[in-house]
Amino acid sequence: MPDVSPIDSLLEHLKISRGFDFTGYKRTTLERRIAKRMAQVGMEDHLVYRDHLELDPDEFAHLFNTILINVTSFFRDPQVWEHVRDEVIPALLGVLGPDEPIRVWSAGCSSGQEPYTVAMLLAEALGLEQFQARVKIYATDVDDEALTEARAAVYTDEQVQGVPPELLERYFVHQDRSHVVRKDVRRVVIFGRNDLVQDAPISRIDLLTCRNTLMYFNAETQARILKRLHFGLASHGVLLLGKSEMLITHSDLFVAGDLKRRLFRPVPNGGERISEAPPASGPAVQLGEGAAIRDLAFDSAPVAQVVLDDRDHVIAINRQARTLFGLAPADLGRPLRDLELSYRPADLRSNLELAATERRSVGLGLVTHVMPSGERRTLDVSVTPVSREDETGGAAIAFADVTLHQQLRAELESSKTELENAYEELQSTVEELETTNEELQSTNEELETTNEELQSTNEELETINGELQQR
Ligand SMILES: C[S@@+](CC[C@H](N)C(=O)[O-])C[C@H]1O[C@@H](n2cnc3c(N)ncnc32)[C@H](O)[C@@H]1O
Repeated sequence: MPDVSPIDSLLEHLKISRGFDFTGYKRTTLERRIAKRMAQVGMEDHLVYRDHLELDPDEFAHLFNTILINVTSFFRDPQVWEHVRDEVIPALLGVLGPDEPIRVWSAGCSSGQEPYTVAMLLAEALGLEQFQARVKIYATDVDDEALTEARAAVYTDEQVQGVPPELLERYFVHQDRSHVVRKDVRRVVIFGRNDLVQDAPISRIDLLTCRNTLMYFNAETQARILKRLHFGLASHGVLLLGKSEMLITHSDLFVAGDLKRRLFRPVPNGGERISEAPPASGPAVQLGEGAAIRDLAFDSAPVAQVVLDDRDHVIAINRQARTLFGLAPADLGRPLRDLELSYRPADLRSNLELAATERRSVGLGLVTHVMPSGERRTLDVSVTPVSREDETGGAAIAFADVTLHQQLRAELESSKTELENAYEELQSTVEELETTNEELQSTNEELETTNEELQSTNEELETINGELQQR
């Protein structure tokens, strides 16, 4: 059996026994959160902890709660919500007919502050009556406890701090020191369990908020989730992510509507890149005295080129092409089909036909070419038909060597990904710290209570002692 790390075997166990798959979550966060739970129950060995998970039916819920970080707030990142209020919602209402339904999905909604934030903004924009008639906000999470809190919609003074005072007044009922979201607003929000990794997305969504949730997943799982979110969005829909979530920029499913505010729009038929070659603009054929200079320029051009006549015989090969493909002057005059170049590194024959019939330049895209020396190069190949006024013509085949460009691009891309990963990691660690801080705070409060109890017991004992001494 191959070596499986203790943490992997624990995750596998959870997958089989509980049907919950944590393998798509960021490794570092997972390790820290599991270690934290193990420390809470006083265990150091993953195998011992695994036994504990099997024996104690409540332990999974504790572990689950420790792993999932529920940090959230009303109007989290206020500038984003100002933008939603001032730009996104008016634009959406402009696209939709006056009676058309408005469908919102808050994915990873935690204890409900985010969907209720959207609800308040839509109620403000539409008026309560229209809001109730047209809006449906689906709010989903995998954490049932968080969903229960969200449905109850009861928040403390501290939790409603981010709500602008006039909205707090209008959309909450105040009871003692707690604030409950009004029933007519609550009714519009439908809470449900949905696992972003495994469950089907909700469809025809106009506004999808999935904030500070993607960042807990590794890049591969984020890509899978983004596919589902893309599927769920209407073509005019908008996706709103958290401020540190940037891996989406590597996806071809979305384009940034407003990158600063992490607002994205779905690309129609996303994922199927369509590349259109630019129309040809046939090069002017110059004759006369400059011919020798022109030939020299052609020969020393940095882009490898091979020119064919109207019967597809080779009539010119420049120096770059000779070096790249090991061609020799003796190849001049030969039919292209007799040369290996006609099919390697790219199929030229069918593309020559296409370029000739459609009278346009055809881009073959990037191909890998192994040089006679064994070195690998990346070439951007294009076939351009050239014709004279009498309609006879040939074709110019260009092989631009973009190896360096590609390498730099790949390096840049990987540095960018690393940077984005680091940023996400930082953000999720901050949220973890916030959770730990809250936990410390409550432990502190517990200690203070215990302390008070000890103090009063002590005082009681002192009193009894005094009484005994008086006897
Ligand atoms: C940090 S909270 C973000 C809450 C809110 N969106 C915000 O930005 O304030 C992340 C939420 O994602 C949820 N979550 C984690 N894994 C999930 C999954 N596989 N499917 C759906 N929600 C998930 C967690 O339970 C948690 O409530």
